[in-house]
Amino acid sequence: MRSSNAPDVPHPARSHDCPSTTAVRGRLVWFRDDPFLRPSAEALEYVEDGLLVCQEGRIVAAGDYGRLVRALPPGVTVESYRDKLILPGLVGSHAHYVQMRIIASYGEQLPEWLQDYVYPEEVRFTDPAYARSIAALFCDELLRNGTTTAMVYCAPSPQSVDALFEESVGRGMRLVAGKVMMDRNALPGMLDSSPEQAYEDCAKLIDRWHGVGRSVYAVTPRFAFTCTPGMLSAAGALWREHPGTRLQTHVSENTREIELVKGLFPRPPYKDYIDVYEKHGMLGPGAVFAHAVHLGKREWRRLHETGSGVSHCPSSNLFLGSGLFRMKRAVKPGRRVPVGLGSDVAGGTSLSLLQTASEAYKVGALRRYPMDGVQLFYLATTGSATAMRLEHLIGSLEPGHEADFIVLDPAATPTLDARTSGDDSIDDLLFSLAVMGDDRTVLATYVAGRLAHHRDTCPAPMPVRLNETRGPEK
Ligand code: GUN
Ligand code: ZN
Repeated sequence: MRSSNAPDVPHPARSHDCPSTTAVRGRLVWFRDDPFLRPSAEALEYVEDGLLVCQEGRIVAAGDYGRLVRALPPGVTVESYRDKLILPGLVGSHAHYVQMRIIASYGEQLPEWLQDYVYPEEVRFTDPAYARSIAALFCDELLRNGTTTAMVYCAPSPQSVDALFEESVGRGMRLVAGKVMMDRNALPGMLDSSPEQAYEDCAKLIDRWHGVGRSVYAVTPRFAFTCTPGMLSAAGALWREHPGTRLQTHVSENTREIELVKGLFPRPPYKDYIDVYEKHGMLGPGAVFAHAVHLGKREWRRLHETGSGVSHCPSSNLFLGSGLFRMKRAVKPGRRVPVGLGSDVAGGTSLSLLQTASEAYKVGALRRYPMDGVQLFYLATTGSATAMRLEHLIGSLEPGHEADFIVLDPAATPTLDARTSGDDSIDDLLFSLAVMGDDRTVLATYVAGRLAHHRDTCPAPMPVRLNETRGPEK
């Protein structure tokens, strides 16, 4: 097992364009413990009339308004969100920005969907202008949906990575992303020419982007089916040799994919799908495995023992007919694996982690594991941050954390208002927001203490004029 990558994430230099102090008043919600291992009421931190104070992009105080307001530096104005909830910015543990334009592509399961829709779109990202326009759209849409950090796949082209980090750094976001590595079983024009070349290209991207602003580089071998053993080894070596980077890949999403991988990596010597990755040095803290729908007991145990994380992508698993994730296995006491929530756009049909949480609840209900509101919001904040080993920086309102937070409006729509305007408990309110919420529910998004989106005052992002940059017609 490799040692933890967590402490090595570079901290951004203190920048003069951070507002010195931001103070917001509202109902504060965050998580001090794991609601999958303890009663939700013990895991939840809730301050009904709270004040959150941020300086230089970090949270410096979170607690009772009456107590904290007296200590505010002179001249600081308090932004009041009295009947609204203030939570950590949502954290997504799995998405593909380069698939924004193929969301809701009809009728296929994973292997055909990749061949027919995904790969033809991803080859377009050799065009820097096209990549930049979609990267801008993606970052704006994350913020409009209250997501302040996401773990993101780019395309195989290095330009696609430059485009995303240029846009996220410009917005001050902590994004975790990397170039897709693959050298077989996709379109010829998009394959890396060799593991050595892929290693070199990625090493250059790490030098260029890791630690720039709040960027974190993620080594990104697509999945075992599109990687030779040499490519998986290159990915494992790249991760090991660049401390502080993260690693992301897909595992055990679709039953036919599992058979295809078994054909390429037979048993023996490989014990199962997770063992394919383990034998190439890809397990450990800071590695996030997306989907994990059909894992066996040994595989869950190895994820636990190595400190690896998992991204639960319920919208995608339903849309692509992949299967029903077993949360109960992931959170087994004594064998807990860190789990986050991922939209997996474009396998998932929405970038909203509130809508994704709603799907997670329904999948849980079918698996006889109905999660409560505290658990659902935990997954979309601290859970994802922990899966990525970024929980010391993001996903919490605890002082010392980076000041990424959102304001949720329980009266965002007439139906939501009708459901939430009674005397309900905070647990019930969180549950309604997780199940019924969407982009309209996100009143405001703050990044590093600065307002980055406001539903009612910021104009919506301009539609991207795609015709100017569109690649060859399919
Ligand atoms: N497995 C390999 N690539 C992909 C992808 O782009 N999306 C999903 N959902 N699964 C994958
Ligand atoms: Zn994916």
